[in-house]
Formats: sequence, structure tokens, C-alpha cells
Amino acid sequence: MPALVLLGAQWGDEGKGKATDLLGGSVDYVVRYQGGNNAGHTVVVGDQKYALHLLPSGILSPGCTPVIGNGVVVDPSVLLSELSGLNERGVDTSKLLISGNAHIITPYNVTVDKVTERFLGKRKIGTTGRGIGPTYADKINRVGIRVQDLYDESILQQKVEAALDAKNQILTKLYNRRAIAADQVVEELLGYAEKIRPYVADTVLILNQALEDDKVVLFEGGQGTLLDIDHGTYPFVTSSNPTAGGACTGAGVGPTKISRVIGILKAYTTRVGSGPFPTELFDEDGEALRRIGGERGVTTGRDRRCGWFDAVIARYATRVNGLTDFFLTKLDVLTGWEEIPVCVAYEIDGKRVEELPYSQTDFHHAKPVYETLPGWSEDITSAKSFSDLPKNAQNYVKALEEMSGAPISAIGVGPGRDETIEINSFL
Ligand code: GDP
Ligand code: IMO
Ligand code: MG
Repeated sequence: MPALVLLGAQWGDEGKGKATDLLGGSVDYVVRYQGGNNAGHTVVVGDQKYALHLLPSGILSPGCTPVIGNGVVVDPSVLLSELSGLNERGVDTSKLLISGNAHIITPYNVTVDKVTERFLGKRKIGTTGRGIGPTYADKINRVGIRVQDLYDESILQQKVEAALDAKNQILTKLYNRRAIAADQVVEELLGYAEKIRPYVADTVLILNQALEDDKVVLFEGGQGTLLDIDHGTYPFVTSSNPTAGGACTGAGVGPTKISRVIGILKAYTTRVGSGPFPTELFDEDGEALRRIGGERGVTTGRDRRCGWFDAVIARYATRVNGLTDFFLTKLDVLTGWEEIPVCVAYEIDGKRVEELPYSQTDFHHAKPVYETLPGWSEDITSAKSFSDLPKNAQNYVKALEEMSGAPISAIGVGPGRDETIEINSFL
């Protein structure tokens, strides 16, 4: 019953899409368990590049069943356009399964996301503006709309009216916006219902039966550990649980079923949106990482903030996720630096701190304590085994492994599927 969780160990964009796609050929199901189309997962297959937002990256592997679990928030218009975009490129999407319990991102959730960010001004979170937070807020407030509600018109009408009652007061009186008509929202949502119906299924039952039948299930996280609503740099986080526990609640699978938890870890650090980032660089090194690493958001097109590797964060990810392995990505991007600083601890108000502080104020005051490792200049993109790497690159990987607290079982040396060094098998 091998069930694997693959998740981001930093602030997202670690290369989860590539890693999932790599494993996709050997697994039976790939399941998204949280988040929505705030994600942007890039997969490069041969000369083809795909940017997936809502769909699990396993959709590109013909033998694999892609699943959108109950913990995901689904924007139906994005879902349908992503599906038709893939169909036009010859990708078969007919196996997709969507939980009837997944919540729907309605047009008013998107509006609320945008106006609240504008209202926050300088204090904004820097969300993707896709309605993610307001949709999860409605879920928790028990005024959410679920996929299954699309198939009962009168229930849908009642639920949309209930959700809009309070929202229209806030939109008109606080934000000075026009009220949103429930009838219009219902009409739009009903327009999606029949197109989505073929995919809707009892995904909890199907996934648990698959595990009983010894099928291999891969849970693909969106975002990353430090963007987790509980364990991230709150309030500068997303509104779901990308950490390993989220796979259980977001897919309806018990923790005893999970056999492996793989943390995707970039060889340096990036972040999009607001919030603290101790190793962030504002100099030409940061600019070079952005340029060489192509660090521009897949979803919003924003430049990613860039900085050196932070081992404190990696250790934290190992702990809160119970990581069994790391998949280190983008090692090739570091080629050419004579020396590479790595953050091994923080200095907070004059004291050395080895572990991530729980206090928001302390984390905002954290200054990186660096150790400098020797770099390498040889091209590593065609390395196929660990021993193909230059000695200094090997030492960099070993040092990161030691500091991070879990074995590095694969190394990415380029964006393509085969630009990967596999050290320990994941399956
Ligand atoms: P995700 O959100 O975690 O799936 O990551 P993104 O797709 O947003 O960003 C990762 C970027 O790095 C994508 O453009 C990938 O194609 C690329 N990528 C992934 N692994 C590697 C790697 O090992 N080397 C290089 N150079 N690029 C990589
Ligand atoms: P993938 O899956 C990086 C960030 C946003 C913002 C915060 C909250 O590609 O790694 P939200 O729209 O979720 O309410 O925004 O989270 N964010 C991401 N950053 N990668 C992502 O996804 C992200 N999804 C959300 O920039 O700071
Ligand atoms: Mg991304």
C-alpha cells in the first residue's frame, strides 16, 4: 500500500511539478489535496512545457489517474480551460476524478480576495488574487459551495444567497463596491455543472480501495511548508495545509497509510508575495539567481524574491512533515559561483538560534548566520549519477543533507524529466 506525499519544503516553487511528473510514470494515482489554482507547477517533457495550476501533474502520465481531492478549492472556469488547453495539445484528461466535497471558488470569492488585498494596502499578503483565502474562509464559516451543490439547483440557490447576504453588506458598505446578484452567480455555476459531471466521484472511497489493492498513490502538495496556514510564516501564508498532514485531511486517507514523505527542496531559496525571508538578497547575487534560475511566477508572472539556502527552514520542514527524503532541485543554477553561502543558524537579538523560532517577531528579527562552501564551475546538467558531479558540488549536497536532517534521494540538474540524478529509489 505505498502512499507517498510529495510537498514543498520552502515557500513554494521548489520544482514539485517536475518531481511529480518524474514519478508519474510509476504511480497509479496522483492526488492534489489542498490549494487551488494559486499553484503553478511547471513540467517539461521533451521540448514541451506545461504550466499546471489546478490539475495534478500526474495528468501528463497516460497510465496515471489524476485526482482533485476534497481539500482542494476548485475554480470551475479555470478547471475547464486548463482541461481544454491540455486536450488541444493532445493530452488525454478523461481519467480525471474530482471530489464532490471539494469547495468551489465562486466569482464573489475572487472579488473579495482582490478588494481585501487592496484594502490592506502596505500590509497586504501579496496573494495570487485567485480567491483562495475567501473560499477557505467560507468553507470554515460553513457557507461554502461544494462541487456536489452544482447538481441540486434549489440548494445551490439557497447556499449562494446565504453566502452573499453578509458579503454584499461588506462589499457595498465597507469596500464601496457593487452588490453581487445571487441569480447571476447561480446561472454561471450551473453553466459549468454538466461539463464537470463526468469527473465527479467519491474520491475518498476510490483512493482507499486503491491502497487496499496495493496501488501506488502519490499526494502532490501545492505551495510549501512555510506557506502552511498552521506551520508557515503566518499571516504571510496561504489558507490551507500544504504540510504532510494536509494530505490525510485533504484526501480522506489515514496517516497509517502514508509510507514516505518527500520534501522538494531548492538548492537556494525563493519566495513570492509578502512576508519575512531571512536569506533574501538585494544585490547582484539575488539578481543572478533570479536570472539563471528563471525565477518568475508561473501563476502571476511576478518576479520571485531570491536568497541563499536556509538550513534552518529545511530542518523545520523535516520536523513538521516527518520527511523521509529530500529531492534537491536546481543545483545546476548554482554553477559558476566561486563560493556559496549557506544559512546554518539565525542571530536573533544578539543570540544564535539553531531552530525556527515560533514567535513571529523573533522570525522578523532573524539575521542569517552563514557558512561559506566552495563552488564549482563545470556544467553539471548532463550528470547522471552522484559521482558525475564535481567534488565541490558533491560536498555542497552532502553539507545540505547533513544540515537538513533527511537523506537527499534525488538531485535536479535541469528542468527536464531526465535531468535528474536518482540516488535512492522512491518506490
Ligand atoms: P513548483 O510550483 O514547485 O512545481 O515549481 P515551479 O514550476 O513554480 O518552479 C520551478 C521551476 O524550476 C520550473 O520552471 C521548473 O521547470 C524548473 N526546474 C525544476 N527543477 C529544476 C532543476 O533541477 N533545474 C533547473 N534549472 N530548473 C528546474
Ligand atoms: P506553487 O504550488 C509560491 C503565495 C502567494 C502569497 C501567499 C498567499 O506553485 O508552489 P494565496 O493566493 O494562496 O492566498 O496567496 O502564498 N503562494 C505561492 N507562492 N508558490 C505557490 O504555489 C504559491 N501559492 C500561493 O504569493 O504570498
Ligand atoms: Mg510554482
